[in-house]
Amino acid sequence: MDFNKAPSKKELKSGGVLIGKVQVPGDKSISHRALMFGAIADGVTTVEGLLPAEDPLCTANCLRAMGAKISSISHGKSVEITGVGLDGLKEPEEILDCGNSGTTMRLLMGMLVGQKDRHFVLTGDNSLRHRPMERVSRPLSIMGGKVTGRSNGNFAPIAIHGCQLHGAVIGTPVASAQVKSALLLAALTAEGPTTVIEPAHSRDHSERMLRAFGANLQVGGEIGRHIIVRPGARLKGQKVVVPGDISSAAFWLVAGSLLPNSDLTIENVGLNPTRTGILEIMQQMDARIEVLAQKEIAGEPVGDLRVRSGALKPFSINEEMIPRLVDEVPILTVAACFCDGESKISGASELRVKETDRLAVMTRQLKKMGADIEEHTDGLLIHGGQPLKGASLDSETDHRVAMSLAIAALLAETDSTLLKSEAAAISYPNFWNDLAYLHN
Ligand code: S3P
Repeated sequence: MDFNKAPSKKELKSGGVLIGKVQVPGDKSISHRALMFGAIADGVTTVEGLLPAEDPLCTANCLRAMGAKISSISHGKSVEITGVGLDGLKEPEEILDCGNSGTTMRLLMGMLVGQKDRHFVLTGDNSLRHRPMERVSRPLSIMGGKVTGRSNGNFAPIAIHGCQLHGAVIGTPVASAQVKSALLLAALTAEGPTTVIEPAHSRDHSERMLRAFGANLQVGGEIGRHIIVRPGARLKGQKVVVPGDISSAAFWLVAGSLLPNSDLTIENVGLNPTRTGILEIMQQMDARIEVLAQKEIAGEPVGDLRVRSGALKPFSINEEMIPRLVDEVPILTVAACFCDGESKISGASELRVKETDRLAVMTRQLKKMGADIEEHTDGLLIHGGQPLKGASLDSETDHRVAMSLAIAALLAETDSTLLKSEAAAISYPNFWNDLAYLHN
């Protein structure tokens, strides 16, 4: 996304109500994994509900540049991937462009480091080139991986010289599904088993999907979580059904709770327990959310979420909960501004290395609306309950900030404008249309 060419400015009306049914787009994490695992499987993988947004499109383009065949990706169309097998990716002629997507870069690092005697260079946009990659390159080097980058392998452009890896026992430095998934991918072609131990449970889509594709992967361990991958099994093409993204549903959950007289149903939302921290917190806030029509589809729990408006209580989030709601902190910060009392977010320093420093950006933007927020090194203290006023807002290029501020603008007393609103398309290309459709 090129924010240098006249970024768009959106007019945002305050007030109104949100009524109706909405289907949020496919889960971003699951979409990336379906594309990547399909590309290194034998045979054909079909994916229903793949997220047709900028981040997964970057993943698809990188994989195409290495020989995987991927049909065109558009809303409502199933996608077909013809895989090249575990060792079949070809050396790309060009630098691989991961755009804004940390998941693309980090998972590809793990996938490519064991592709023997091939050379790969990965880069991304201005945001991604400043996000830490050492958390992946360092543990990969314990497995024998040859990864270099600016600042001792920490920043892209990242160069990888593929080689034979050896299995290892690795404790990951942060509870990050991106780091964990990179190591699991590297382990598939290593010599000997690899054990990955996380400091806390991060989302487990990779474990579920790799097993479904035929990988020899076991999850166990009493203290902490041990994932053991034994190499040797090939991956086989699968049918993947991607549920709606709970991180996209989160904007409607907060808006529907706080905009008086609203009644919304968000259909077909992924309810994997490693992702449902937002529901736990909103329960703590007394939100009126019902989970309906729960079922399991293709190894992931899904359901519909009905939300009706009502007063919300302040909340407290600690480090232990962060992995289960890491992407929902910006919209929960907005919610906190409208709860009477003090809400606290702590143990959230990971937010500082997302697409933007989300603690700083949310504080800066919401303060323009009159919010009372104290920014701490690892979190926020929000004194809620005072009405917010409309303001000239800026997403600062961050998709989740753009959508969170859109909801704050609805809840404010007067109208707002939002600069760089197009950032929403990174994960939710139809966000502005869905908002217009639901908003009366
Ligand atoms: C993701 C994991 C999370 C999340 C990101 C997607 C994934 O990042 O913030 O949006 O698909 O694995 P970390 O793993 O770095 O916490």
